[in-house]
Amino acid sequence: MTNPHGLGAGTRLTFNSPLSSERADRLAADLAATKPATVLDLGCGWGELLLRVLAAAPDASGTGIDNFGPDMVRARHNAADRGLADRVTFIEGAVADHLANADVVISSGAYQAFGDIKTALTGIRSLVNPGGRVLFAAEIWERIPTAEQLANMWDGITVDDCLLLPDLVDTAVATGFRPLRIETSTRGEWEEFESLFLAGSEEWLLANGDHPEADAMRDRVDAHRAIWLRGARDVFGFAFLTLGVPG
Ligand SMILES: C[S@@+](CC[C@H](N)C(=O)[O-])C[C@H]1O[C@@H](n2cnc3c(N)ncnc32)[C@H](O)[C@@H]1O
Repeated sequence: MTNPHGLGAGTRLTFNSPLSSERADRLAADLAATKPATVLDLGCGWGELLLRVLAAAPDASGTGIDNFGPDMVRARHNAADRGLADRVTFIEGAVADHLANADVVISSGAYQAFGDIKTALTGIRSLVNPGGRVLFAAEIWERIPTAEQLANMWDGITVDDCLLLPDLVDTAVATGFRPLRIETSTRGEWEEFESLFLAGSEEWLLANGDHPEADAMRDRVDAHRAIWLRGARDVFGFAFLTLGVPG
């Protein structure tokens, strides 16, 4: 695909999740307030949240792991731009191959790296040092979808693919965490995320409507927008759990 802003490339996004800069800075400040020495981000994307935590925690060093190479390049570039390159390592690879203990463990939109939610929480619990913190962010149902909403979402998705927020929190508690803060993405964060996810492709289409690949691109963005507006909107949610473990 010659479109430099291909669908999903994330070039317009600050985070690859429905997360505002304001919420991210507050989450980063809360995690940094525990004075971590080590921060581990499992499925870090281009590492924006990890970099914000490190900026707020000047004595910490961090490791970000992701198996998508271009995001690692972007992460290292951003780290160098912010003077953080000497305190962060970005590893291109599978999360399962790079597990390590840390004072703060982040898993945002990436529990799939472990398989399912319960397995992810159990795995992360074994990594976080005593007295440490976890930021676990994951997809939830804001409400149980109707059959029509489910049919309008991604192929193959079922009602069993997400938990309701209270069930997600109960799962975290049953895994040995205490919930320090429970929050969910606002509709505004979703609108920013979904719009910017599509924006690069839409702008390319406006400038390249006669390109041989334009019809395929148009079909893809139209399908993505329909999933968002006819299926997922106000039903498919995203939760941020700040979790503590005993010292
Ligand atoms: C929805 S994105 C979230 C990225 C980032 N945490 C954020 O919030 O901006 C999920 C990320 O998990 C990564 N990922 C998924 N499975 C993985 C695995 N098994 N090992 C490493 N990275 C994985 C993907 O490449 C992707 O960058």
